[in-house]
Amino acid sequence: MRDEVDVLVLGSGIAGLFFALKVAPYGRVAVVTKKDQPESNTNYAQGGIAAALAPDDSPALHARDTFSAGAGLCHADAVRALVREGPARVRELISLGARFTQRDNGLSLGREGGHSRRRIVHAADLTGREVERSLLEAIAQSDSVEIHENHMAVDLVLEHDGRGGSVCAGALVLPPGESTPRRISARVVMLATGGCGQVYAHTTNPAIATGDGVAMAYRAGARIANMEFVQFHPTALYPAGDRAFLISEAVRGEGAILRRLDGTAFMDRYHPLASLAPRDVVAQAIDRELKESGDPFVLLDCSPIRPDVIRDHFPNILAETKARGFDMLHEPIPVVPAAHYECGGVLTDTSGRTSLSRLYAVGEVACTGVHGANRLASNSLLEALVFAGRAAERIIPRLGGWRIPDSAPLSGWTGGDRTFDPAPDRARLRELMWELVGIVRSDERLTEASGLLAEMNTRVSAAMAESLLTPELLELRNLVQCGQMIVASAISRAESRGLNFNLDHPCRDNESFLRDTVIGA
Ligand code: FAD
Ligand code: SIN
Repeated sequence: MRDEVDVLVLGSGIAGLFFALKVAPYGRVAVVTKKDQPESNTNYAQGGIAAALAPDDSPALHARDTFSAGAGLCHADAVRALVREGPARVRELISLGARFTQRDNGLSLGREGGHSRRRIVHAADLTGREVERSLLEAIAQSDSVEIHENHMAVDLVLEHDGRGGSVCAGALVLPPGESTPRRISARVVMLATGGCGQVYAHTTNPAIATGDGVAMAYRAGARIANMEFVQFHPTALYPAGDRAFLISEAVRGEGAILRRLDGTAFMDRYHPLASLAPRDVVAQAIDRELKESGDPFVLLDCSPIRPDVIRDHFPNILAETKARGFDMLHEPIPVVPAAHYECGGVLTDTSGRTSLSRLYAVGEVACTGVHGANRLASNSLLEALVFAGRAAERIIPRLGGWRIPDSAPLSGWTGGDRTFDPAPDRARLRELMWELVGIVRSDERLTEASGLLAEMNTRVSAAMAESLLTPELLELRNLVQCGQMIVASAISRAESRGLNFNLDHPCRDNESFLRDTVIGA
């Protein structure tokens, strides 16, 4: 791997790869990714990409649904960019080689919770895998992009800008099998490291989702926003375990109904859209039903969907549930909520710019303000495309004018020679976040979590100073810091809005809290 590149991209999901493709004609691009190339949340995306493409749809309707889900906190300029530019970005993805499901000589458009129209472009129920495949194949054609697998970004490197501020000058990266990071210098750094679902015991996210980018940006002094808004997906297959299998919302979009174990449909008591209500409403309703009944799960009854539609539209879900002993063609399947998506992240403008000069962020790691207090289903793949494209458009004309910083030798990173086993702390962290900072919160539980996380942070900081650096230890540090940011943000929002439901403050308070929760200078 070179020590100097023009553009350093951290992450190889949809955000990092789409951005890398856009800037590739203008300089040398290094994509650093901590596992193999496609391993990302993107790769597991099922439902699809929301875009106003149907004749009865419009960007205005898509915006209305996005605002309605976002519970007053969506940034209007970001939402406008998302819905207006979204359809063209989806077409661009198709022109790059993505093969989405067709119906009646056009794109098949699915439906999901909170959407007033059919607008979900999908590749059956393996949309993310198709997106990764097409982007990686397109990148393989480019001579100027190098992808470095199994390299883990550790921290951002800052330099003085000569005017009393600092600029992002690159990143420290841990090569595979090594315990000393290397410095990679770049004219500009793009954070595209995804979310932090692994901070919770039960999550739909793969093991890579450890919040590394948000934690790195936080340590570098960037502004972080809205971390309290963690989205729990209502329907993970039970038992959820530490890597839950998702049952796409598109299944409810085609007609599946949530029921108690006694067969009663319950969602119409909570929302006029019943089983297709926005996710915060459905997850909170299921949580309440489970607490009232004492049952371990609720049922998803797929009998309203024709078997041929299930086979056609949901072949992977059908096969995966069957492999786990459930037959969704003939019986209801057990589901529970699981942590799924972080609406908050590194605060950016509508071109991906963070508060640190020459540090950009796109995708789940970023907080563009599009999602407000609750993300509308299938808006995140779209957000990644639209804002990666906008970031590239901002960066390309400026790239040549930005200097590559000197690759000063690395100093001050000594670590130690002890070995530290992060697994017990990682498991404890995930359990405590699930128990104390889950779907339903309270002041007492948040305060308890804050104390426990502070103790854990002290222990991990000591381990960082004394031990050999490993990816697992670095991930633990990042997970603990993300947990702390989620808890601090939830404590400071003394109201219930969107995904932040607090029993001690059950109402929305527009007087005091119609604003983002921002951490950092
Ligand atoms: P990711 O795709 O998560 O990519 C992050 C990349 O960063 C990975 O390559 C990772 O290895 C790398 N990385 C992380 N840390 C480091 C580090 N320290 N150093 C180097 N590399 C690092 N959204 C939708 O819009 N529609 C859907 O249908 C949908 N379905 C979903 C289904 C599931 C099961 C899940 C988990 C999510 C789903 N989402 C969906 C959400 C969506 O997939 C993600 O929000 C989106 O893919 C995020 O893309 P990204 O590029 O920002 O991050
Ligand atoms: C799903 O298919 O239910 C996931 C969609 C999303 O997270 O946007």
